[in-house]
Amino acid sequence: VTTRFYNFNVELANVTKLCQKKAIVTVNGLYPGPTVYAQEGDRVIVKVTNLVAHNVSLHWHGVRQVLSCWFDGPAYVTQCPIQAGESFTYEFTLHEQKGTLWWHAHVHWLRATVHGAMVIYPTTGTPYPFPFPHAEHVIILGEFWLKDAVSIEASTMRSGGGPPSPDAFVLNGHPGSSYPCSAQDMFSVMDVIPGRTYLLRLINAALNNEHFFILAKHKLTVVEADGEYTLPYTTDAVVITPGQTLNVLVTANQPPADYLMGMTAYASNPNIPVLTIPALALWRYEQIMPEHIETGGILLHRPLFPLNNDTAFVSNFSQNIRSFPTVYNHVKVPHNIDRNLFFTIGLNEETCDTDHASQCKGPNGGRFSASINNITFQLPHTVSLLQAYHCGTKKDSIPIFTTNFPDKPVEKFDFVSAAPNDPPNNTQSLVGTRVNVIEFGANVQIVLQNTGIIGSENHPIHLHGYSFYVVGMGEGDYNPFTATLNLRDPPLRNTIGVPAGGWAVIRFKADNPGVWYLHCHLEIHTSWGLAMAFIVENGVGSLQTLPPPPADLPHC
Ligand code: C2O
Repeated sequence: VTTRFYNFNVELANVTKLCQKKAIVTVNGLYPGPTVYAQEGDRVIVKVTNLVAHNVSLHWHGVRQVLSCWFDGPAYVTQCPIQAGESFTYEFTLHEQKGTLWWHAHVHWLRATVHGAMVIYPTTGTPYPFPFPHAEHVIILGEFWLKDAVSIEASTMRSGGGPPSPDAFVLNGHPGSSYPCSAQDMFSVMDVIPGRTYLLRLINAALNNEHFFILAKHKLTVVEADGEYTLPYTTDAVVITPGQTLNVLVTANQPPADYLMGMTAYASNPNIPVLTIPALALWRYEQIMPEHIETGGILLHRPLFPLNNDTAFVSNFSQNIRSFPTVYNHVKVPHNIDRNLFFTIGLNEETCDTDHASQCKGPNGGRFSASINNITFQLPHTVSLLQAYHCGTKKDSIPIFTTNFPDKPVEKFDFVSAAPNDPPNNTQSLVGTRVNVIEFGANVQIVLQNTGIIGSENHPIHLHGYSFYVVGMGEGDYNPFTATLNLRDPPLRNTIGVPAGGWAVIRFKADNPGVWYLHCHLEIHTSWGLAMAFIVENGVGSLQTLPPPPADLPHC
């Protein structure tokens, strides 16, 4: 076991994008932030020092944090954020984890600029289940905002309306030539050698958009999703929702020239407008002489994107992501279910409080909200849920949360329909900090039913602390009698796009104690309350028991 030590200073840095210079919050002055490199089984130690005015916490997205929930990072769930001038050292082991994961700020909308890749190589002597690539490149899909993202969240929450569009989509921080003043601000993979195969590590770090990614004239072969090998799947374009990672192989088998790679938004609800300008990056074969760049003489191939609302493409793509045999052979898909949960997920609308009624920008004059099982999640702000749970003797008497998060939707509301044109009379939710308690070791199934109370949109649901098998997905209302579940080779993921007007079923074994956040990875939906938390209780014996908190755990 090697220990990888990193120093992350959260600090301001100036960038010039879209014709403007501005200061953004970064790690070590980099945007995107530094890549964490490690090998399966390594210990990772990251000392984070907060040198900005915002409170900060970092989450290691996809790292299971086995017995190290204290270092998971979501603010007010597992820790209080690191205050200005303070430090906190994250320490965890990459137990049986390899592939592409990532890290990001997990407080307000700071992850807009505070994010980076984690590249975890397999143990020495363990080959990939695909040809070894000639070279590899991390490509982070993001959004760039000329305004401060944290203040955009605050003003969106005040208005009660939908989120504004970002000012640009970016690949590794670069908008590329479709945007003003950005022809030079283009990420490029240069000197691709004809005939060689390359590994692209794609990460969707965008706040509020799902994306297509494509490379002109080249096929993409998906070989890994969320850090787990998949059956190779070859396609013209990939779909990646916020939180997800995909490793794809590309063989440079086209005539040497310039090819553009790009990302565009996928609009799961065609009525919600998305930014339609693609972020572009360059894929250049060697043997193209640099002097040809200025003359415009190089053949430049542009990508042909799927339509922004091509839902058929998206569902076909997700159906084709299957586990590689070593994945489902190694960690068995749970067959007998101990806890069967049914979660409705979606947006709803609250009545505007009368003082602000004229300002409320929600669809029917109210304010947007979101909920799971009709509960709009509220984060505590004086202590984290994990601290409260750990310190409490009788957890029900701790005032900052209650353990009555329901296994099914709260009955008084009729929120279970996926149909977008059939809203209930009462679109309001209950507000609270409720958690659902799971006994250690239980096999858990969650049916995630997307609702259509006000419109319908995909929800990329992310569970902390676990990867889960996606055993089923479909349109309309989930029906246990007709739904077909794949218990043979379902993909093991940490984030799943639950389709608009449809459902997904996930399964996992609750064998990692702690407090684990489950939420929509569209940042605005988390802000609106599309979140909840599980307490997975300590097991019997010291091996399954969460150790006490680290001494430098921040205070609120
Ligand atoms: Cu990638 Cu809770 O987040």
